[in-house]
Amino acid sequence: MRDYKMKPVNMIDLPLEYATRKAEYDEAMQTVLQAGDFIKGKAVTELEYQLAQFLNIKHSISCANGTDALEIALRALNIGEGDEVIVPAFSYVAALEVVSLVGATPVLVDVEEDYFQIDVTKLKSLINPRTKAIIAVHLFGQTAYLDELLEIAKTHELYVIEDNAQSFGGMYKNQYLGTFGDMSCTSFFPTKNLACYGDGGAIFTQDDALAKKIRMIANHGQSAKYNHEMVGRNSRLDTIQAAVLQVKLRYLKPSLAIKAGLAKLYQQQLLEIEGISLPQVAPHSQHSWNQFTIRVNQNRDGLKQFLAQHGVQSMVYYPKVLSQQIAYAGLNQDFPVAQQLTKEVLSLPIHDQLKEEDIQQVSKLIKEFYG
Ligand SMILES: Cc1ncc(COP(=O)(O)O)c(C=O)c1O
Repeated sequence: MRDYKMKPVNMIDLPLEYATRKAEYDEAMQTVLQAGDFIKGKAVTELEYQLAQFLNIKHSISCANGTDALEIALRALNIGEGDEVIVPAFSYVAALEVVSLVGATPVLVDVEEDYFQIDVTKLKSLINPRTKAIIAVHLFGQTAYLDELLEIAKTHELYVIEDNAQSFGGMYKNQYLGTFGDMSCTSFFPTKNLACYGDGGAIFTQDDALAKKIRMIANHGQSAKYNHEMVGRNSRLDTIQAAVLQVKLRYLKPSLAIKAGLAKLYQQQLLEIEGISLPQVAPHSQHSWNQFTIRVNQNRDGLKQFLAQHGVQSMVYYPKVLSQQIAYAGLNQDFPVAQQLTKEVLSLPIHDQLKEEDIQQVSKLIKEFYG
């Protein structure tokens, strides 16, 4: 039975986050309402500049969501029919989906067990003359094997697109993720490290020509109003969302620091519980803790249910290998690590509105469950 005296601990608490800085959000949104510059307004231009400054990258182009960002990135590289793009088999569907959407062939690669990132030792056998790019997803806030990926890409003349949707604000060798590849894409979906109050996304690059093309594709292929140089689409970030993101960006570093503190506390509290492996931080990386994902090799679903009965949410990211999804059933199915992870992973609540006592409560329940 659920103990109703316990405070619920949710995966995210957006109403509380809004309430904490209500005056700032309200003012930001009111400014847009009063100016009426809802599309391509002042806040969008300012935000793009601030994001580029934050990451220390030359170009930042906002768009409607993270999936569009990935699709636009592929289109800007002229990737389409006849091309192959390598994406991880254990991940969110977006990277795989956009490869199919542009008419290219997705090639899945297994992940490794320590950090759940693309297994670079399995990449070489997948590369052939049709291979054009690798989408390096920095999963859960962790860093993909960037040195190895960039080296392989250089040798085989492939593009690297970083999918930074879950790792905005994370670092590798003191440099922000999202600044290593030919391009990076991010999502401002409400649960992300840097999130808006709806959908939003952005693409980043150091390359002037690519940046110009990306901006055109995202805005009906226009170089100037009613000058359509190429087939484009409508994928713009709303000004209201940009205004919200400007507030969020001011608090991104403190928010990441809170999550790092909470992750450390989980690591201390959950040490040495038989059957549970804790997330490791890859060398030279600053994890951004979009998820705190443990591996549970005994009764993961029982633990999830027990936590829920005591008011604690948890999530299985991801319950299926991507090739087990009906839409992608034709793809290779042989991904032993990804397969094992789908049976063992459990993401625990971690967000900047949680307190130490919440982490202690979750940890106590886990210890109780395993006796
Ligand atoms: C790794 C990853 N890539 C891409 C996306 C797609 O972003 P959006 O939901 O903004 O389209 C998401 C999730 O939302 C994601 O987690």
